[in-house]
Amino acid sequence: MIRMRRKILWASCFCFAAAFFLVLTLQVITELGNSENKVSVISSLHSSPLKPGERHSFQFKKQELHSSFKTESDVNRYPVLLWWSPLTGETGRFSQCGEDVCFFTINKTYQHNQMTRAFLFYGTDFSIDSLPLPRKEYHDWALFHEESPKNNYKLFHEATITLFNHTATFSRHSHLPLTTQYLEGVEVLKSSRFMIPLQMKNSLRKRLAPLVYVQSDCNPPSDRDSYVRELMCHIEVDSYGECLHNKDLPQHLRNPAAMDDGNFLKILAQYKFVLAFENAICEDYITEKLWRPLKLGVVPVYFGSPSIVDWLPSNKSAILVSSFSHPRDLAHYIKTLDRDDEEYESYLQWKLKGDISNPRLLRAMKERKWGVQDITQDNYIDTFECMVCNRVWENIRRKEKGWLPQRWEAQVNHLSCPKPEAFWFSSSNPGWISLQKMWIPSFEQSKKEAWALRHLVERNKNFTAEEFWMLVFKE
Ligand SMILES: *[C@@H]1O[C@H](CO)[C@@H](O)[C@H](O)[C@H]1NC(C)=O
Ligand SMILES: *[C@@H]1O[C@H](CO)[C@@H](O)[C@H](O)[C@H]1NC(C)=O
Ligand SMILES: *[C@@H]1O[C@H](CO)[C@@H](O)[C@H](O)[C@H]1NC(C)=O
Ligand SMILES: *[C@@H]1O[C@H](CO)[C@@H](O)[C@H](O)[C@H]1NC(C)=O
Repeated sequence: MIRMRRKILWASCFCFAAAFFLVLTLQVITELGNSENKVSVISSLHSSPLKPGERHSFQFKKQELHSSFKTESDVNRYPVLLWWSPLTGETGRFSQCGEDVCFFTINKTYQHNQMTRAFLFYGTDFSIDSLPLPRKEYHDWALFHEESPKNNYKLFHEATITLFNHTATFSRHSHLPLTTQYLEGVEVLKSSRFMIPLQMKNSLRKRLAPLVYVQSDCNPPSDRDSYVRELMCHIEVDSYGECLHNKDLPQHLRNPAAMDDGNFLKILAQYKFVLAFENAICEDYITEKLWRPLKLGVVPVYFGSPSIVDWLPSNKSAILVSSFSHPRDLAHYIKTLDRDDEEYESYLQWKLKGDISNPRLLRAMKERKWGVQDITQDNYIDTFECMVCNRVWENIRRKEKGWLPQRWEAQVNHLSCPKPEAFWFSSSNPGWISLQKMWIPSFEQSKKEAWALRHLVERNKNFTAEEFWMLVFKE
């Protein structure tokens, strides 16, 4: 997912770069005149090679830094931050993070380099098969993991998450919260670009159901398909995805890449309600499933993060599945709104007025230092790298002054995803079977793995996969 997004991002960056090629060339020529200045800066061990006045042209500086450093000699002057998961694919790059410069690499030969200060892990690739052990006391571990627990359950237990000093996860309690990772900005939420007037939605109701569902990842840990299956017994649902499929999309929209296609969005926008069900239930795990209907002016019927009200644009902008004790009651409520234009529109008032009243959401969007599909901003991986770089430098400076290091650790339980639960009315459904046969056992197994991993890491010696599995099975 990330890799794909990054590819798209890089593709757009390339176009951008091409368009500004001339500007860049000029910049480089001007900068050549400053190279004296640069050399003296590089040879000092200080962390602020750029003068304050130069910092605004940061994008260009990044390029320039890259080409002017000589790896062999300069690596010994800057902290090395080693991506233990080869997420960035970059074998070596100096990055300027505000005042600080760090060397980022995926080259594992740096494990034992005396300048290596942090190991960066991508959650989905975090594996017991190779860990940078023994861990020195100045080896920080940093975790980037934006995905749901479905991808690597063992990280979601206290024993494992507390191995990390720095975290970037979907949780608001992470050091770099990615809670709004699927939201480009507040403007797209307010936009009425795709919104269809209620009168037209009412007439479209002659051929469309009130509710739409589009999901092709069937029977995940949240057991959403069991809920929707039951809901379908009480109200009509148009289901375009592979799960519970009952209606076809036009041929050219039948692939996962079409989910952002304008024509697909227009189809969704015709509906009054969208079933926005996450694949796993965790605090603050919120995806495009919620934001997309809000952007389109369709009311989301949401199932996912239990504290979702903390992030909604207004108190009345979504219907929460958790407010109803049975799908039958939810169906009944939706039918009521379907008949009552005024009540239905009360869920869209915030949109019609362009008024987002949730201060937490506004603040998070204003303060976040990264953008989503926005080449004018850093992406969240750059921001993560720089957070770790700045913290590593802070401790280098403290050490120079003879102070104790600043201690950082992941907040215990900050990734809160309870054990998956099947809906009580769903036994013998494929969703229920998946939970009993796959998700619940995998959750239980991951607890044992997390414990064994902790035990072996604390021993601080290289361990083999055999030792790990022996310990897991002994548990
Ligand atoms: C990794 O770094 C070492 C020096 O530490 C270098 O000799 C080697 O070529 C690098 N490998 C790659 C793939 O860049
Ligand atoms: C939602 O309602 C609560 C209680 O009435 C209020 O404190 C909160 O500010 C409201 N939130 C939004 C986003 O309007
Ligand atoms: C990082 O975490 C480890 C393990 O919990 C701890 O020993 C170390 O002191 C931490 N480092 C910092 C800089 O907080
Ligand atoms: C740890 O074990 C792996 C594989 O067995 C080996 O490649 C690596 O060099 C070892 N590292 C250390 C520090 O012994």
